[in-house]
Amino acid sequence: MKAAKRLSEMGSYVMADLQKQAREQEKRTGKPIVNLTLGNPGFPVADEVKNKMSELCQEAELFRYPGYRTIPAFSEAVHVYYQKRFHVELQNPMIIPLLGVKDAVSHLPLALLDPGDEALVPDPGFTYASDTILAGSTPVPYSLNAFMADPHSAFKKISEKTKILWMNFPSNPTGQMVDLLFYQKVVDLALKYGILVINDNPYVNITWDGVVAPSIMQVKGAERTAIEFMSLSKDYSLAGLRIGYAVGHAETLQAFSKLKNQVDAGMCLLHQEIAAFCLDQVDQDWQMEWSEKRNDYYRNNCHQLADFLEEKLKRTVERPKGGLYLWFDVPDGYETGEIYAQHILKEKSILLVPGSVYGQEGKRFVRASFAYLDL
Ligand SMILES: Cc1ncc(COP(=O)(O)O)c(C=O)c1O
Repeated sequence: MKAAKRLSEMGSYVMADLQKQAREQEKRTGKPIVNLTLGNPGFPVADEVKNKMSELCQEAELFRYPGYRTIPAFSEAVHVYYQKRFHVELQNPMIIPLLGVKDAVSHLPLALLDPGDEALVPDPGFTYASDTILAGSTPVPYSLNAFMADPHSAFKKISEKTKILWMNFPSNPTGQMVDLLFYQKVVDLALKYGILVINDNPYVNITWDGVVAPSIMQVKGAERTAIEFMSLSKDYSLAGLRIGYAVGHAETLQAFSKLKNQVDAGMCLLHQEIAAFCLDQVDQDWQMEWSEKRNDYYRNNCHQLADFLEEKLKRTVERPKGGLYLWFDVPDGYETGEIYAQHILKEKSILLVPGSVYGQEGKRFVRASFAYLDL
């Protein structure tokens, strides 16, 4: 059976090849590989969340088909969370539960884009380009560095076919962050040019050294032109449960809801209850203490990994103040991050992600994850 053409258009097998090489090398040499490609959160789940989960597991009806409804406790907790965490009163009462933010990143283009439509995607950036292609539409990369220096640079790429602009800070893969002033400029430009901004914000709470990352919903006009995705994967170390949600621009959420009624059967009620519990209690002592420890853990991981790589690779590695990744360029003499990653795998038994996976501008970079460390 021949797979659909769109799969071959979706890009690189670079990572699959490298993972395979790593497994073979480990088998052949018996020497374990230090795998720095994974984003699984290493910080343990809070006891309070586990206990709540055990308690909820006694309620048989929570295991039924959820239907397409969002339980009021979940929607209300999201509104409470935005008030407490970002001091924002969300105008649109609707939220869309997501089976992890990845659910929305891959499915939203199907709800918004027709074949031929264009989406502005960060370069380097998460999987927005391939998800645009999956919808039969065209990704138009914008330089992340240029965008950060001047948001207008991305809007210069707008054509009459452009419908949306994706962004993500703290960035995967670079760890770069922005402030409210930046978000305000982007919202003003989006309103002026009449496009939708999708702010993918799963690392908003993973910051340290006094840095507090904002929500785009904090700026004036955001709900008229933007939606935001949030996730409990990193915030609560609940990556496997697949819990996220979308807020913001009403018409977009309506369209997305219609699409989601087609592609899945709603979010598990147990998970909705857990989300409601976590978000509603964001300002409780147990959670403030837990999240402080979580960020100390990631800060330590960040420095430990940077020290390790600087020693092993004899490179200077920049240390971000948020996100879960180190991003650094390859030394002279290596044309691409892919060639460098292959060399480092062979010589040092360390597996890195070549930056080309995230776009053209990542070609001479590599990414190392400190979400979980076993050095
Ligand atoms: C930028 C970005 N968006 C979305 C996701 C997916 O998050 P979730 O676990 O909620 O699906 C990730 C996960 O690594 C990510 O880095």
